[in-house]
Amino acid sequence: MEKPQRWPEKPPQKTTIAKAIGTGKEFWITSGKSNIGLITFARKISSIMARLLTGIQSSGEQHLGNLLGALAPAIELSQQPGNDAFYFIADLHSLTTLRDGEQRRHNTRAAAAAWLSAGFDYQKNTFYRQSDLAGLVNELTWYLGCFAPYPMLANAHSFKDKSDRLSDVNAGLFYYPVLMAADILLYDANFVPVGKDQKQHLEITRDMAQALNNSCGEELLVMPEPLIREEVMTIPGTDGRKMSKSYGNTINIFGPAKTLKKQVMGIITDSTPLESPKNPDTCNVVTLYKLVATKNQIAEMEANYRKGGYGYGHAKKELLGVLTEKYGEMRENYARWMERPDDLEDILKMGAEKARPIAQAVLARVRGKLGFN
Ligand code: ADP
Ligand code: TRP
Repeated sequence: MEKPQRWPEKPPQKTTIAKAIGTGKEFWITSGKSNIGLITFARKISSIMARLLTGIQSSGEQHLGNLLGALAPAIELSQQPGNDAFYFIADLHSLTTLRDGEQRRHNTRAAAAAWLSAGFDYQKNTFYRQSDLAGLVNELTWYLGCFAPYPMLANAHSFKDKSDRLSDVNAGLFYYPVLMAADILLYDANFVPVGKDQKQHLEITRDMAQALNNSCGEELLVMPEPLIREEVMTIPGTDGRKMSKSYGNTINIFGPAKTLKKQVMGIITDSTPLESPKNPDTCNVVTLYKLVATKNQIAEMEANYRKGGYGYGHAKKELLGVLTEKYGEMRENYARWMERPDDLEDILKMGAEKARPIAQAVLARVRGKLGFN
């Protein structure tokens, strides 16, 4: 069996070593500070060709939490020389929660436009929609599912958290981690950048790969390493809880100016009067400002808070100003992409054709070994 030749001859100096279990080879990765200033992530530094893979569901429009917590760090990783990024829109996964086809089509376009306007280079990398390769990924899903012990899936948080109201839970939700494992293993991915919430899914992926490899007596599937963004802070929403589509507290950084303004001006604050001094350390507006403003801007706002005579309305306007300035170009590009659905479609289709032969080769290895040819 041919393995991708993406391994280095010798290690670069002083780094963290992540073993690519099952290959007997090693990757060398090291930590680096991201230029958005709050994320430390594993960074590949040698000339090793490492395949990164990640997916984002098309279950809604992307918000500031998604941008800072998922898109920006993944894009930054894809820009490291030698990295080969497979980033895709997990539209099949979104069916576990979203039934409306038109809405999914819109969300898929919106996710594609978000990745592209945030700077993902679709020409250098591979950018596709999961369902364009539905036949291949679902085939591997079936094989892997037959190696997944039932209790392992029943214990997945994504299922277990909802198992107290099983009548609302569809079997797709139960099978979600198997499809996710197939997404990863189908493309010989080495590293999977994800948020902390996906850690268990990566463990399940590795367990299933190991089970299939053990059973076949061969390293048929490449063992992926999670790149967990442990240090990404949880971006708060307009009500102070985690920013999330499901809480309706998002800042739709890609959306129209009017919506953005409404959301920023609607950030919940306390009722300290304008003239009184305020505590910047407990204010949601300042927390968000700190994520996007420069050091000087932050220091100035903090001083204004402490001094008094500076209202929350002023602070929100400042925040809105920084957001529109910092992300102005991205927002314009997003709006332009959204007006070109046919081009988005072509880009995703082109990405799928780039990904297809890799998936076919992996499936051929698995099929042959399992006796399906
Ligand atoms: P939502 O909670 O809005 O449904 P998703 O679960 O679709 O968001 O998020 C996709 C990824 O975006 C997550 O795995 C996580 O890495 C990142 N993300 C989402 N919300 C936040 C947030 N508030 N802070 C940091 N990262 C976030
Ligand atoms: N489950 C992931 C999320 O909700 C999305 C996803 C689907 C994914 N397939 C994947 C992430 C494969 C990484 C790799 O965030």
